[in-house]
Amino acid sequence: MIKKRYTYLTEEFLKENPKFCAFMAPSFDARQDILIVEVPKLGKEAADVAIKEWGQDKSKITHLIFCTTSGVDMPGADYQLTKLLGLRPSVKRVMMYNQGCFAGGTVLRLAKDLAENNKGARVLIVCSEIHAVSFRGPSETHLDSLVGQSLFGDGAAAVIVGADPIPGVEKSLFELVSASQTILPDSGDAIAGHLREVGLVIQLLKEVPYIISDNIEKILVEAFEPLGISDWNSIFWIPHPGGRAILDQIEAKLSLKPEKLRAARHILSEYGNMSNPSVFFILDEMRKMSTEVGLKTTGEGLEWGVLAAFGPGLTVETVVLHSMAA
Ligand SMILES: CC(C)(COP(=O)(O)OP(=O)(O)OC[C@H]1O[C@@H](n2cnc3c(N)ncnc32)[C@H](O)[C@@H]1OP(=O)(O)O)[C@@H](O)C(=O)NCCC(=O)NCCS
Repeated sequence: MIKKRYTYLTEEFLKENPKFCAFMAPSFDARQDILIVEVPKLGKEAADVAIKEWGQDKSKITHLIFCTTSGVDMPGADYQLTKLLGLRPSVKRVMMYNQGCFAGGTVLRLAKDLAENNKGARVLIVCSEIHAVSFRGPSETHLDSLVGQSLFGDGAAAVIVGADPIPGVEKSLFELVSASQTILPDSGDAIAGHLREVGLVIQLLKEVPYIISDNIEKILVEAFEPLGISDWNSIFWIPHPGGRAILDQIEAKLSLKPEKLRAARHILSEYGNMSNPSVFFILDEMRKMSTEVGLKTTGEGLEWGVLAAFGPGLTVETVVLHSMAA
């Protein structure tokens, strides 16, 4: 997992490019100039770490899913990353642009389908976000923009997903049990992002934490009924940390013990809301901490867990996880 905060938007850069500091100044070209080059490069740093830990030759990667909400281009960031990493030209690529924060779940859902339906597939997922796409100065009449600026951070994450790990060669960290996506009722445009000549304009309703917490139990019931699980304190938690209020409201609504959201709160406090890479930072923090303190499983010693990612719409991605030996 690779984290960089505002490395690209230094004091010096902002002085030279004052349009980034206005609330609504045409600046798309200048933003694109950064993002087209830097988003794949940041993604490569994360991919290098993931491939090294996996321990296999990168020629064994059969599929690439690249996910970003930071700029758009053709050929895309998936193509640039394939070249930067030196993957096989025949690697099967999927480029996911502009999905936002819920896409940390989407990439896993997609990778699970690819891995289960293509024998021997090894899917490299890379999520890379640089906030230069939406960074802007404040406006007294658009507090939601200021909320976004206070929360967002840059980061990239990469994982490799496959079915039937080679015994003694590949070590699984988590199993993807099931994955689903849903649109929350009456939530139209509670979170939205519009790509304009002023860059990506994010809009957030202040009700977002309540819309999520009002619907979270129904989502969990649907996901965990097949496993006979209904005690939300008996599972480990990977919620997208969109903002502190979202975690607070989920915790209160489900009467979660404070330690359930420890890893998510830690990542939010250290790195901010990095959009789709955030859930992978939490997974990484959880499995490393579980090993360090000698717990039985990668999921804080527990067997089952949930990854829930929230974003534009409001859309929720839910992935049921099974932990492995730590
Ligand atoms: C940002 C946040 C951490 C601030 O928490 P806090 O310090 O407890 O403060 P509050 O939630 O009371 O908000 C402070 C003020 O900002 C306002 N505010 C918060 N979110 C807002 C929004 N989306 N739009 C407009 N105003 C907002 C509140 O109404 C409050 O104003 P008031 O003092 O006039 O009542 C918290 O509001 C949060 O986590 N929000 C969710 C962010 C979100 O939607 N993330 C998803 C991003 S993809």
